[in-house]
Amino acid sequence: MADEKHLPESAAGLNRRAFFVKLGLGSLSIAAAGTAVFAYQFLSPNVLYEPSPTINAGNPESYPVDSVTLDVNSGIYIIHAKEGFFSLSAVCTHLGCLTAWKPDLGIIACPCHGSRFQQNGQKIEGPAPKPLPWKRMWVNDDGDLMVDRSTDIRPLQFVRV
Ligand code: FES
Repeated sequence: MADEKHLPESAAGLNRRAFFVKLGLGSLSIAAAGTAVFAYQFLSPNVLYEPSPTINAGNPESYPVDSVTLDVNSGIYIIHAKEGFFSLSAVCTHLGCLTAWKPDLGIIACPCHGSRFQQNGQKIEGPAPKPLPWKRMWVNDDGDLMVDRSTDIRPLQFVRV
């Protein structure tokens, strides 16, 4: 058996040299891969892809008169009152919890600290400092109800279809 101790000094040195060359190349490869990852992250655009504030609430006929419909995903109510349609933010003005419509009581209630609101967003009781804001609503060319969550409007601006 050829043990490294029994090899000529030049052959043992060559094996050690080859080992350190491979170790160095491996280390450089790992460092290069890390650098490439950081360079890609640095050069790629730092953009937040937020959902559009505009919601298509669909056909007005799908909302019966005197109905309050919560869209959980967009955090708005679509309300079909006798006067027409309107949209309220469903986010409590106290600390931002999602409110819920209580049909048996005819109110909107916040589960977090007990704020209660009328169907038109006016505060009844609780720590909420403001009413639920009305959101801009309109009917698009296809006849669908549209809501702009980013725009508050004065109350009592109903959309009539
Ligand atoms: S978050 Fe609604 S009452 Fe506090």
